[in-house]
Amino acid sequence: MTAFDYRQEQLCAEHVPLSQIAEQYGTPCFVYSRAALTAAYQAYRAALGERKALICYAVKANSSLAILNLFARLGAGFDIVSGGELARVIAAGGDPAKVLFSGVGKTRAELRTALQVGIHCFNVESASELASLNQIAGELGVTAPISIRVNPDVDPKTHPYIATGLKSSKFGVPFEQALPLYRQAQALPHLAIRGIDCHIGSELLDPAPAAQAAQKILGLADTLAAEGMPLAHLDLGGGMGIRSRDEAMPSIAEYLAPTLALLEGRKETLMLEPGRSLVGNAGLLLTRIEVLKHSAEKNFAVVDAAMNDLLRPALYSAWHDILPVRRNTGAERIYEIVGPICESGDFLGHDRSLSLREGDLLAVMSAGAYGMAMSSNYNSRPRAAEVMVDQGTTHLVRQREEVAQLFALETILP
Ligand code: LLP
Repeated sequence: MTAFDYRQEQLCAEHVPLSQIAEQYGTPCFVYSRAALTAAYQAYRAALGERKALICYAVKANSSLAILNLFARLGAGFDIVSGGELARVIAAGGDPAKVLFSGVGKTRAELRTALQVGIHCFNVESASELASLNQIAGELGVTAPISIRVNPDVDPKTHPYIATGLKSSKFGVPFEQALPLYRQAQALPHLAIRGIDCHIGSELLDPAPAAQAAQKILGLADTLAAEGMPLAHLDLGGGMGIRSRDEAMPSIAEYLAPTLALLEGRKETLMLEPGRSLVGNAGLLLTRIEVLKHSAEKNFAVVDAAMNDLLRPALYSAWHDILPVRRNTGAERIYEIVGPICESGDFLGHDRSLSLREGDLLAVMSAGAYGMAMSSNYNSRPRAAEVMVDQGTTHLVRQREEVAQLFALETILP
């Protein structure tokens, strides 16, 4: 579904003109559509059909309480990677019994808290974590539910920073070590083996690597069952990409189809951990042009959003469409869309053909995932406001930070 489209030359979010949102809440500002978030979740549900499955939203993609609450209301579980994310899920009304805890370096304090609140399963990523978890569970007098995150060594064909399932990756346990580790887990008194887990990377557009990984994981699950370790669930991770320009893209159903075909007839509950594909195209970053600068070499549009608000272009050379909020009929020029931060890497888009004036609003699209979640206060810039549109009503779901809040925790020497 397209939550953001033009009406009378004005870009709108669920029919609300973005110019009105900028007027009311200021810029830079993230704008989310409740309808688009819901539609993405429902597309997963529909694709899964009657199969026993839990969609565990990967909180890292966007940990806004409003978004977590929305997914909790829809019945989602959550995939977390820190105690902070667990606290957010609980604060947003999420059910800890539907939480999966992934992450390669969980602290003992995080393991303890997660055991105390009774999460669904720990995705264990090392022998050391397995031992710590057994020990802490023993101290607390509880049993820790576990999966082992297995690294299937499948190339997801994505940006190297977000490929996670290769032999060389820091994540998970190498495929050959998984079986011995499961045997070890079976012998430990305070652990209960519940499932198996893998996640091979992010921004995947081709369904083949995910199915290839699933196949390896299913083989291992069968070996475990034969050894007396039947699994209750299979966690196949997240990773499906989104359309960020005009690339050919499978739908969620088409992406999942080859994997679901492999699961035909199996009894285990399927767990998925999608992040980007649930929120990415349900959000945009609204920004205003402060300055236009022209030289012989380049035209620059300096906007009030920057790499601290949306790091993805700088970090991964990621493409985000940049649309004018009001369509202009003037002549187009090729622009560099840049922020005010003192780094040449501070850009939101290169070589964009647009007709611009100072004061115009721009929408940086596909910014719902890994936008606000990766934002920072670099250059002492307050974080942007966040607004959720719901059937024509706008809700401020996070206030714009104030500069004084940025140094409120600091002190000077006596
Ligand atoms: N599960 C695990 C264990 C993960 O590590 C991740 C993402 C996900 C699920 C969700 O993946 P998704 O469905 O969103 O692709 N900052 C990068 C993306 C990093 C992804 C890290 N792991 C970006 O902006 O592209």
